[in-house]
Amino acid sequence: MTIINPNVLTEQANSTKDEKLGIIRTRLKAVDWTFPGRGKFTGIHDFHWYPARFIPQIPAYLIDSLSKKGDLVLDPFCGTGSTQIESLLLMRKSLGVDAQPLAVMISKSKTAILPKATFEELQTSLRLELAISLSYLNNLDVSGTKTCNLELKKSEMVKLDFEQDNFDWNNKYFLRAAQYLAVPEIFLKDKWYHPKTLLELAAIKKAIAALNEIDENVSDFKNLCLVAFSSILKKCSSQKNHYSYVADNMIPKFLQYEPAMKYFWGQIAKYNLALQQLGVELRQVYGSISRLKELIQTQVGDARKLTFVGNETIDCIVTSPPYQGAIDTSTAHRLSTYWLGFDLASLKNTEIGARWRRSRADAFQEYSNDMILIFREMNRVLKPGGTVALVLGKPSARIRPMEITSLVYEQLVGQLHFTEICPPIIRQTVPERKSVKSIQEDIIVVLSKS
Ligand SMILES: C[S@@+](CC[C@H](N)C(=O)[O-])C[C@H]1O[C@@H](n2cnc3c(N)ncnc32)[C@H](O)[C@@H]1O
Repeated sequence: MTIINPNVLTEQANSTKDEKLGIIRTRLKAVDWTFPGRGKFTGIHDFHWYPARFIPQIPAYLIDSLSKKGDLVLDPFCGTGSTQIESLLLMRKSLGVDAQPLAVMISKSKTAILPKATFEELQTSLRLELAISLSYLNNLDVSGTKTCNLELKKSEMVKLDFEQDNFDWNNKYFLRAAQYLAVPEIFLKDKWYHPKTLLELAAIKKAIAALNEIDENVSDFKNLCLVAFSSILKKCSSQKNHYSYVADNMIPKFLQYEPAMKYFWGQIAKYNLALQQLGVELRQVYGSISRLKELIQTQVGDARKLTFVGNETIDCIVTSPPYQGAIDTSTAHRLSTYWLGFDLASLKNTEIGARWRRSRADAFQEYSNDMILIFREMNRVLKPGGTVALVLGKPSARIRPMEITSLVYEQLVGQLHFTEICPPIIRQTVPERKSVKSIQEDIIVVLSKS
């Protein structure tokens, strides 16, 4: 992130409202919103696949232009926490809210910067727990460590032949191992995974759960590991097509072994590197990173009812609301949902604009009603003079393109008397954003509360 001109922060603080808006306008105009040569998700922003993320430069430049050091920035649809990470780097406090618990886990994992020795110790403990879980799977002798009561007779301890074409999913040893490793029932019925991959995944999950949560470092590490675990679930499955196949519950026809352990440890190494790098950047900004948690808060919630946010407490809102009819965030993550024990039906219900609702006659009306509730909440929580930037995906003509922008203006400007800071900024989406094929452009609407 490059700050264009830090002096603007001081200029903003000393100027009248009109001058302040003029400064913001000039700053926004100076940005090349195509961010040539940039726009890839790397490092801290590359922890987990997630649909419709905005590239980090978008919130970074918006936060830099629309708020000042020490301000509180809200993203009520925080997804994987890009707004919060950029707020932190720019010395703003932030609050992220999302209806998806997985999104909140991912956001939180991005600031799990542990002391090096602690990270290594926890990694060693996890390897040990994993060795124990897998020893049962491999039928190795681990006497002297922990014992597992699979209650199998010697004659039943036949080594499983995972290579055979018609693997027997009712094999007693397999079922007891699956039970011991707490394989979610659904994966014994809906076969997304090769049986050996399935047991490896369950062993990883069990080993993470076994880590003793004695302090916050362990909780942070466990959350990080669960995010790493969740991030490999699609790759480990035998569904090799896009996530939309998972969203549509297209169970694979052929099962293929994928080395879950290798993928998992690969992710942990990648996360460790990215977190260390972020730690270096944050130390440059703050000197010490011991009090990061006071600056950044993320929680599961419904943006239509931000009951935990006080009236007029927020300085700036930077967010990308859900599109209408383009994405199924909940069902695209069904594998994570099953493994992590979330309730898919209730997540589907809370998700605004979900694709599965798109063929309903009242889909746009329902979406509009939800967005109106959100605009009212934004108005309630924003301080007078507070700013808001909405990054709206412009969908293909099929999904009624301009209505969301019109709705924003009709409600926030027309009904709630917000002031337009500049005309909507139109930016072509980078190839990454094209993971939502129907989104052609981003429209950034920038307003201020009167
Ligand atoms: C366009 S995505 C935001 C992605 C985010 N900007 C990022 O970069 O990761 C929209 C988000 O809205 C969330 N969402 C949908 N319905 C919601 C609701 N009722 N309350 C809060 N969040 C919701 C989805 O889970 C999704 O994470």
